[in-house]
Amino acid sequence: MAQRDRLLDQRLERTDLLAWLREDDPARLAELWAAADETRRRNVGDEVHLRGLIEISNFCVRACGYCGLRAGNREVERYRMSADEIFACAHEAEAYGWGTVVMQSGEDYGLKTEWIAGIVRRIKAETGLAVTLSLGERPDEDLAVWREAGADRYLLRFETSDEELYRLIHPDLPGRVSDRFRILAKLRDLGYEPGSGVMIGIPGQTYESVAADIDTFRGLDLDMIGIGPYIAHPVTPLGDHTWSRPVAEGEQIPSDELTVYKAVALTRLACPESNIPSTTALATINKVDGRELGLQRGANIVMPNLTPPEYREKYEIYPDKACVNETAEMCRGCLSGRIETIGRTVGTGPGGRRRSGQA
Ligand code: 5AD
Ligand code: FES
Repeated sequence: MAQRDRLLDQRLERTDLLAWLREDDPARLAELWAAADETRRRNVGDEVHLRGLIEISNFCVRACGYCGLRAGNREVERYRMSADEIFACAHEAEAYGWGTVVMQSGEDYGLKTEWIAGIVRRIKAETGLAVTLSLGERPDEDLAVWREAGADRYLLRFETSDEELYRLIHPDLPGRVSDRFRILAKLRDLGYEPGSGVMIGIPGQTYESVAADIDTFRGLDLDMIGIGPYIAHPVTPLGDHTWSRPVAEGEQIPSDELTVYKAVALTRLACPESNIPSTTALATINKVDGRELGLQRGANIVMPNLTPPEYREKYEIYPDKACVNETAEMCRGCLSGRIETIGRTVGTGPGGRRRSGQA
């Protein structure tokens, strides 16, 4: 039996995932890409759904070791979008025929619970859009209020399943232990479609731990799984090497694009029905055809940026982000071209979670 067919049939155990992450034979990798692409086609089809990203605030109370928006960074000018600016973006998404808007921010308690709820209610009342929130580790009560207001999905990456590494790079707030797996379970209880994901190549992250990440996705039944390369930001403790966790020789997983494609492809095989974006971070490290290669190796979603130009460069999670100088209109044209060039179509409708047996 050809390798590809074996990959399509077989359940990949932790040891298989690990072997694939270390694989570097181009012929074998071609089989992995083909199997991931076929699994994507069979389970979520050829449509690429566009989800418009609105970066509503770059304030953040957290001190994540990898992120340029961390509270300690004085070099970034902080902003919060007004409600009217957010509605204008939502209407733009609708006019473009995109099915979903994603409102994302740092963990910003200046975004008052009721204010967000009002915005969600109005977007749901005025448009046919699905609303995804990605506002950090807010208290359960906030999550409940926003769900009640009509929010459909919530994104919260667990970043790495390696507990020790997570604790190092993601300090707790005083008196509150960060447990993103608990929050993901809570989101599901509240009726959200939860999304999550990881970075690949965090200093101190091993091949083993990424194999464990992919195995972990399987148990979480996620709507969306975002996987991007870790990109060093010089103003952060991980980026300027103030913090590190030593790992044994040969154990550090790289943050290069090939490794990200492997993780995306293996995640598609492990979670055939999930929505997997070809991420902006991937497009950042390969601006030529990173998006397309992600889409051809398991991904089926792109999240074009709707944030008004004057705020874009201030949402600097990592440096040199793709499309910072483009408008949504430009990305729209660019993405349609890229999607058509690889023989796929731009999706219509909200593009929510598909499950077996569901039309
Ligand atoms: N490199 C790549 N991705 C990053 N993120 C945060 N900082 C970085 C970085 N330096 C990702 C995290 C977060 C998402 C919004 O952006 O995974 O969940
Ligand atoms: Fe933004 Fe191509 S996707 S310019």
